Amino acid sequence: MMKFLASLALVAATALASPLSPRQSTEFKLKTTGSAKPEFNNLYLYSYHTGAGLSDGVLDSNATAAPKFSLNGTTAYADLGTDYPWGMTVAGDTNYAAWEPVTINAGGGETGFAISNGNFVWSTDEGFAGWLVCPWYHNAPQLFGLISYYDPVIPSSCSKVTLKPVY
Ligand SMILES: *[C@@H]1O[C@H](CO)[C@@H](O)[C@H](O)[C@H]1NC(C)=O
Ligand SMILES: *[C@@H]1O[C@H](CO)[C@@H](O)[C@H](O)[C@H]1NC(C)=O
Repeated sequence: MMKFLASLALVAATALASPLSPRQSTEFKLKTTGSAKPEFNNLYLYSYHTGAGLSDGVLDSNATAAPKFSLNGTTAYADLGTDYPWGMTVAGDTNYAAWEPVTINAGGGETGFAISNGNFVWSTDEGFAGWLVCPWYHNAPQLFGLISYYDPVIPSSCSKVTLKPVY
């Protein structure tokens, strides 16, 4: 019964949320869970500045300063305190790779993001096969999107994760 009520409430919330403009829509932080490596769980998605208007998605345990994200349709934006949005991209390059870095860049962003069954995901139609975390060149765990067209040979230092919105 509780479960039924909970899903009803979720439907009601979704129905209410859709007509709102992006500024008014619900914002959330993104937190990792479900990793086989405990050190990759309970991390928040940050944008790591890599150039003017460019950043990579890195992860940190400190929830306080983690940016809030929102969905405008199926485009995901980070609120970095500027008057322009920062759009999230998984497969910015078609370089035939089995995983691609998540970027958060000024303006743009690609479509296909959603919250599905309580998880933040990208479009399987676009080739999304899940999130991957690897210790990478910013000296921090970095977020990648696995691409379904390829069989990944995942390095032992990396791990698949789930991303949950935290409201
Ligand atoms: C977390 O981030 C906040 C805001 O940047 C900072 O004030 C705080 O010291 C950080 N906490 C830790 C444990 O680093
Ligand atoms: C949200 O999407 C609509 C329709 O594509 C667009 O007109 C609007 O500018 C977008 N808002 C932001 C904040 O990007």
